[in-house]
Amino acid sequence: MRRFAALALGLLLTLPATATEDPRQSRSREIAGRFQQTLSGKLGQALAEGGPARAIEFCQAEAPRVAAQLSAETGARVSRTSLRPRQPAHAADARAQALLADFQRQLAAGTSAPPEHFEVAADGSARYSRAILIQPPCLGCHGKALSPEVRAALARHYPGDQATGYALGELRGAFQIDWPAPSEPRS
Ligand code: HEC
Repeated sequence: MRRFAALALGLLLTLPATATEDPRQSRSREIAGRFQQTLSGKLGQALAEGGPARAIEFCQAEAPRVAAQLSAETGARVSRTSLRPRQPAHAADARAQALLADFQRQLAAGTSAPPEHFEVAADGSARYSRAILIQPPCLGCHGKALSPEVRAALARHYPGDQATGYALGELRGAFQIDWPAPSEPRS
């Protein structure tokens, strides 16, 4: 009896997972991880070399370059999005707005790992999203107490900036990986 229960549970746990497995999901996780690592490495270096005000200029030039390079390399559109963007091009679209609101609810409910989501659309295209949370090194440029130099640099480079006033652990935005529909017909 116990053996049967274990078997039934095993089937329940494995069957739906294999039925919905899409290789783009694990690829997306990998890409988001690389995006994050590359950005934080470059950011750390820029902060160490020039301080936050200089690192803002560096971020403005380098972050889109990293995203473009990963996109070209993978065939997906690799980006970041936010409900309160600094870079206007990062404003969340309708789908991302709903998803980010859901991430916010999950975090408010006590989820500690950054929530993620993968969704295949009716046309076969797919989107992966993973929450980006505020950590200690982010506060100098996205927090509440900004230095006068950082304020001045933000005003100069991002006059419509909405991305300040955050506290530790808050949702800053999401990595977003958009895949085109496969070119072969799906069976
Ligand atoms: C040196 C200042 C600086 C620090 C530190 C910093 N950021 Fe940013 N952040 C920026 C700038 C500048 C942009 C806009 C980049 C662009 O124009 O593409 C940005 C953009 C973003 C975006 C894209 C959405 C948007 O608002 O445009 C996210 C997400 C983000 N930052 C998260 C973080 C997180 C998480 C940390 C901490 C790990 C962090 N940032 C640390 C300056 C900073």
